[in-house]
Amino acid sequence: MLKGRIIFSMDEEIPQHVLLKISGYFHGIKIGYPLLLRKGIEGVKEILRKLEVDEIIMDLKLADIDNTMINIVKQLDFANSFIAHSFIGIDGALGELKNFLDNEGKKLYLLASMSHKGWNDEFYPYIKTVIKSLNPYGIVAPATKPNVLRIVRDDFPNKIIISPGVGAQGGKIGDALCNGADYEIIGRTIYTSSDPENKVKEIIKIQEEKINEC
Ligand code: XMP
Repeated sequence: MLKGRIIFSMDEEIPQHVLLKISGYFHGIKIGYPLLLRKGIEGVKEILRKLEVDEIIMDLKLADIDNTMINIVKQLDFANSFIAHSFIGIDGALGELKNFLDNEGKKLYLLASMSHKGWNDEFYPYIKTVIKSLNPYGIVAPATKPNVLRIVRDDFPNKIIISPGVGAQGGKIGDALCNGADYEIIGRTIYTSSDPENKVKEIIKIQEEKINEC
């Protein structure tokens, strides 16, 4: 099955037989508070049990002290990647979290910028120093702001970049891939579709066309 450059943001539950059909098209699945709170840890594990995706990313946008964040990620052993905010800094927070995840063979993504209008990119110079010095596995940067995404790619040429804001928030499918992202994070466009399987196939086709053009 041809994989898309898609990380499916499963903020709503979709029927298991549909998920089983489409999950093979995804690089990864991203789980956040909405599904975790609705289904609980065991419920989420049950949903994920039969799926074969390369990456389960937990998007709790961690932003706390080291002990609390490590306590949280220990309970989410089904995930192999975690997203955290960069602005919390390294000592007593991200540094210890990254050491813990490294020892567990898990991945850390740091936020470089957010996809919504109100995010202030004047923070970016500080965030950039945190990301440079912590050297996480990957970075989250927005599809809604192509100029910011390009700057992040230029600053971090060798990092995996995953990009939200595609579809419902206004980013066009495939554009983020031309602006430096490795994968597009897509939720509502897929799970609100009346035919998720065809929607995913359509997304993959558009992504391929865009990649060939850029
Ligand atoms: P939709 O339905 O808008 O879902 O396709 C997007 C998903 O991505 C999350 N999101 C972000 N996560 N940084 C992040 O780490 C961001 O800037 C950002 N913007 C959106 C959103 O919560 C949803 O799960």
